[in-house]
Amino acid sequence: MKVLVISSSPRRAGNSAAMAQQAANGAEAAGHEVELLHLSDFVDGVLGDCRRCRDSHGRCSILDEYETLLVDHVVPADAVVIATPLHYYGMTSRLKAFFDRLFCYTSNSAPDGERVMAGLTGKRIGLLVSCEENYQGATLGLVTQFQELTRYNRQELAGVVVGVSNSRGEVKWDPANPLQRAYDLGERLFTTHVTDYRLDTPRSNRVWADHGVPAKPPVAGDEVVSVTSIQ
Ligand SMILES: Cc1cc2nc3c(=O)[nH]c(=O)nc-3n(C[C@H](O)[C@H](O)[C@H](O)COP(=O)(O)O)c2cc1C
Repeated sequence: MKVLVISSSPRRAGNSAAMAQQAANGAEAAGHEVELLHLSDFVDGVLGDCRRCRDSHGRCSILDEYETLLVDHVVPADAVVIATPLHYYGMTSRLKAFFDRLFCYTSNSAPDGERVMAGLTGKRIGLLVSCEENYQGATLGLVTQFQELTRYNRQELAGVVVGVSNSRGEVKWDPANPLQRAYDLGERLFTTHVTDYRLDTPRSNRVWADHGVPAKPPVAGDEVVSVTSIQ
């Protein structure tokens, strides 16, 4: 599988980058084809008024490498792991610009809209956050935003790792070991148990099949439970 890891901190050798590198190492160890990129090499501009910004062919005219990142790296990936420092209780402005500008490539009037949209769906997404505060509420908004973003994009949020850190590289001292957990997330991107149940979702009464592999969705004839019969 193709795994893209994006570090969105302006600090290239900082805590987010360290977590991103570990996720990339884990994905590589699991045999995936891995690419680690820095968002600042691709995204400079923020979303404008598309009616004014578009060129005569309807293409985004912001002069940076956004389209290369989106079309050549994000779309072909089966999973994308995004690392961001917490900036004022949210993602970095550059990462927000990345999401905002998806609009220019997916709206009805976008020249390759349908192709890009189809290329965004179905991916597994991982989120790595580095932040100074360990108060749970600090990252809550960002995690919720990723839940909604992935739901909207028809993607699966495979996991979130938070590393408490401030000065460059000190995430390695967090006793909760976010670097190891970032590695694990990278390694298990495609095998970790991801659910989005509804009350009536048919499912097996076992989460794990043999050897810790997530149980497959039930097929006709399997024993199936509803919430009322879970033991
Ligand atoms: C502009 C800015 C805003 C920040 N806002 C927060 C914040 O709201 N909460 C927090 O815990 N840390 C905040 N921090 C601290 C960073 O999240 C922390 O230093 C992080 O480890 C930096 O990661 P990096 O090395 O990848 O840039 C902020 C840092 C900066 C520069």
